[in-house]
Amino acid sequence: MSHSAAPLHVDGVIRVPGDKSISHRSLIFAALAPGRSEIRSILNSADVRATARVLTALGANIPKLEDSFVVHGVSPRELRSPREILDCANSGTTARLMIGVVSGLVGREARFEGDASLSRRPMRRVARPLSAMGARVEFEGPEGHEGLPLRVFGAALRPIEWNSEHASAQIKGAILLASLVAGVQAEVYEPHRSRDHSERMLAARGVRLDVMMNGVRILPAQQLTPLDVEVPGDPSSAAFFAALAALASSGTLRLPNVCLNPTRTGAFDVLRRMGAKLHIEDERSVGGEIVGTVVVAPGDVRATDIGGAEVPSCIDELPLLACVASRARGETRITGASELRVKESDRITAVVNNLRAIGADADELADGLCIRGHERPLSGRVVTHGDHRLAMAFGILAALPGNSITIDDPACVEVSFPSFWHDLARAIGPIASNNHAHHAFSESPATHLVIAIDGPAASGKSSTAQWVAHRLHVRHVDSGALYRALTALGVRSNVPAEEWTAEMLLERAGAIQMHLTERSVVPWIDDAPVDEELRSVAVTQSVSRVAQMPSVRDWVNARVREAGRASDIVVDGRDIGTAVFPDAALKVFLVADPWERARRRLVQRLSRRPSDAEIALETETLVARDALDATQSVPARDAITIDTTALTQEEQVERIVALAKATRERLR
Ligand code: S3P
Repeated sequence: MSHSAAPLHVDGVIRVPGDKSISHRSLIFAALAPGRSEIRSILNSADVRATARVLTALGANIPKLEDSFVVHGVSPRELRSPREILDCANSGTTARLMIGVVSGLVGREARFEGDASLSRRPMRRVARPLSAMGARVEFEGPEGHEGLPLRVFGAALRPIEWNSEHASAQIKGAILLASLVAGVQAEVYEPHRSRDHSERMLAARGVRLDVMMNGVRILPAQQLTPLDVEVPGDPSSAAFFAALAALASSGTLRLPNVCLNPTRTGAFDVLRRMGAKLHIEDERSVGGEIVGTVVVAPGDVRATDIGGAEVPSCIDELPLLACVASRARGETRITGASELRVKESDRITAVVNNLRAIGADADELADGLCIRGHERPLSGRVVTHGDHRLAMAFGILAALPGNSITIDDPACVEVSFPSFWHDLARAIGPIASNNHAHHAFSESPATHLVIAIDGPAASGKSSTAQWVAHRLHVRHVDSGALYRALTALGVRSNVPAEEWTAEMLLERAGAIQMHLTERSVVPWIDDAPVDEELRSVAVTQSVSRVAQMPSVRDWVNARVREAGRASDIVVDGRDIGTAVFPDAALKVFLVADPWERARRRLVQRLSRRPSDAEIALETETLVARDALDATQSVPARDAITIDTTALTQEEQVERIVALAKATRERLR
């Protein structure tokens, strides 16, 4: 079926981040294995940071998550009752696995909490087997509420044989961890086999297990031996790009180093069945998991049925497969998937409502959904309920030419795939090769709509600007990334950072190209994308020094101005409305009281709710910084100041979008 008006060409290599399930487990197992374990390529996302935080609060030694780091594990007996509440944020895996760990720690107790979405998710399913083993789990929410917050009292546990009603690796993992920590035997059976990373990782660490068809037995009184781990790429993240390639008109995407554990690859099988040209190259075994390169090219996409034992192997990808089905010929039925109702959102209702909101044809079933594909363009607003997988699934539909879809909360991808929008822009860009009605810089007319967003430190201007650009279907120019690109050239030069001069950096600046994608203008170096390098620690450490060099500022401002001559843009940064674009059609100056700015900055940095004491400290830092910046942070005379203290980010974005639309009308 031809899916959209204009052709979409995809091309390139996307390296998806580390597998989320393996990342959580690599931290937990390293923390519980006395000795040294090195972890490489962990997924550094909000969910995994929640596990790191909970382990730290229990007394484990977890350093900052970097590309490579060492955990010095201790015997579980050395873990203590945490002083603070264990905040699991949005992460069901953190909550369920760590409730299992605490259950086996005799005499320890801990209170588990989560965000609104996690607090709605059922915890009775782990509380029942753990209570049957002898732990005490007290639900602390309103009467009858069987989710977080809850308190766990660890105890000397009894062996257990448990028949789980659900095929769930989190239930299985919680029981295995409780029995490991308590040193007792456990057997877990499930209706279909769920992902088996716990089993593989335990076995690799010397634990004796019997793995059966739909069950596992862990033998008593065992200790983990430490083991280095290289976390492979997440197949659930790779699936978004496999789907994009399947729905494109031409080209190939290559996704290297993806975990191909057979309990996880259901979505690849389904996409192949739907007509995608998908094959695996370079398959090999790494640390007990199969990994390989997934190579995907477009196909004539048709409907399929998904159900039964296949469901657990693609459970997290079902929202995405439903989105693919909306572009496929025929009716796709997904059944046996009632688990979807208790994920980060009710993914059956939410997917169907959103598909309908953008003009697709879908119905709810009690245990799944049914989608009839068509070719008409899709347009409208997607409500994600903060659910990362919904944002990304609909993000793939939004990337198809002819569709006009906005996502209410694109930032929620932080939970599992922080670089998703960047990678998506790379997969579908550069625009020039896509035959869209966009132009490269040199061919462009001279005047365009420039929306300049300025404001003091931590006013949230960058993330708001990105979102505004997304809503208006124009490009966001990331001036910060240009400073980072120059800094990266400094790092590459091997000259110590203290000795860098503006002249030396600018001499090398010819290596930087401004790369246009559908929604952004990002710097590349030597014709290659460098977003990971730009976020590296070395660059982060030196970028503020580089950004203070006056001739570097001039260079960056000139590049940003060029981008403004090429197409409509949203650009954020200091001096943007005054020095860089004094003629910008719309200038917005965002302000918020320092307490609120400090709070937002900490939430972003820590991925959790900061304490008042932490906010107070950060507020002091910000006020001091404001005083230093006083000359820079002056709004342009014709800027519209928006006080965002009491506004959500969505409200800020809506206001700026409304102003931009009015400005467009005025200019017409
Ligand atoms: C996970 C198991 C699955 C999955 C989740 C991660 C894990 O949940 O949906 O994203 O790492 O164990 P269930 O075990 O509840 O199906």
